[in-house]
Amino acid sequence: MTGTGEKARRDELQVPVTGSGSLTARGLSKSFPLSRNALGRPTTHVRAVDGVDIDVTAGTTVGVVGESGSGKSTLGRLVSLLERPDSGSVVLDGQDVTRLRGKAMSALRTRLQVVFQDPFGSLDPTKSVGHAVAEPLVVHRRIRRSGMLGAAEDLLSRVGLDPGLARRYPEQLSGGQRQRVCIARALALEPWLLVADEPTSALDLSTRSEILNLLLGLQEDVGQSILLVSHDFATVQHLAHRVAVMYLGRIVEEGPTHEVVNNPLHPFTRALLSAVPVPDPVVQRTRRRIVLHGDVPNPANPPSGCRFRTRCSEVMPSCSSIDPVPAEVRPGHRVACLLHSGAGVPVPDVETPRTPT
Ligand SMILES: Nc1ncnc2c1ncn2[C@@H]1O[C@H](COP(=O)(O)OP(=O)(O)O)[C@@H](O)[C@H]1O
Ligand code: SF4
Ligand SMILES: [Mg+2]
Repeated sequence: MTGTGEKARRDELQVPVTGSGSLTARGLSKSFPLSRNALGRPTTHVRAVDGVDIDVTAGTTVGVVGESGSGKSTLGRLVSLLERPDSGSVVLDGQDVTRLRGKAMSALRTRLQVVFQDPFGSLDPTKSVGHAVAEPLVVHRRIRRSGMLGAAEDLLSRVGLDPGLARRYPEQLSGGQRQRVCIARALALEPWLLVADEPTSALDLSTRSEILNLLLGLQEDVGQSILLVSHDFATVQHLAHRVAVMYLGRIVEEGPTHEVVNNPLHPFTRALLSAVPVPDPVVQRTRRRIVLHGDVPNPANPPSGCRFRTRCSEVMPSCSSIDPVPAEVRPGHRVACLLHSGAGVPVPDVETPRTPT
């Protein structure tokens, strides 16, 4: 590329991005070093996210579910640009933002906010609630410090908290109140996308539904785009328009939530859903829980072929030699399983035992 061309490309990447929350990620992959040699060079890696495609249509909620260690949080960090992918792209409202740098990246990051699991760890105990909530406005929107209290009170009201809490400190609040404070702070910069990573896992049962209802209200009232990450299907199924099921760094099933919940196709999705209680006691009594046997495989050395084969109750001989690729089996409903999609990528030079190891 010529010097002029390079400059033009750089300038293009500096253009402030406008947007409304429509996100398209393609082929996202991220590895982390697991061990290093004496020279400090990585010798083994864990592929936390491995070739993931995901879309969030503006104004909708997408749920990402899966067991611990399946790559959900890493995916959340990749789409919120907290972490750079090794490969793949993140496109916001039609603009590829994966390679943004410097000020353009910092400006964009303010529009992609993350709410984490631990509301206490996310708040500085030495700063008042009002300071925590309005600080992003001082740093990024240059509001005057004298306006902080008023801005914080408005934001606290938006998340259903008494504005008077602005003068308190995090330790004086309950877990649920603290998580609302974190959500208020994330909303301060009017994010296009809110990534909520296990936002209720650290809360007691009674408070969980309050936080989920708050997220639902934000999505319905102001059309907030949300990526809701959870290990618990029950948490996402009432909130998300679409759901993506992750296993060992890959999305194995994805589609409209009602479609995936009522017609799950991947054996892993079926197992996850079988653990979700249904409100009707008669139906609940007739349900069969699908228990997953075996441990989650080492993500640094996933099984050949289908990664789920070592725990799948429907495993076939071909599952160890063919890596299933996601295929659309109903409109908007994709699954990566040889039982349904048929297609897959042959795995070279692997033994093909008849039973999983
Ligand atoms: N910063 C990191 N360094 C090394 N390994 C990591 C790092 N972040 C995540 N991992 C590994 O990547 C895999 C996926 O982790 P994570 O995205 O946190 O999954 P989840 O959120 O589904 O529990 C795990 O094996 C985890 O140990
Ligand atoms: S491809 Fe085979 S092992 Fe994988 S989920 Fe489908 S049936 Fe089970
Ligand atoms: Mg996580």
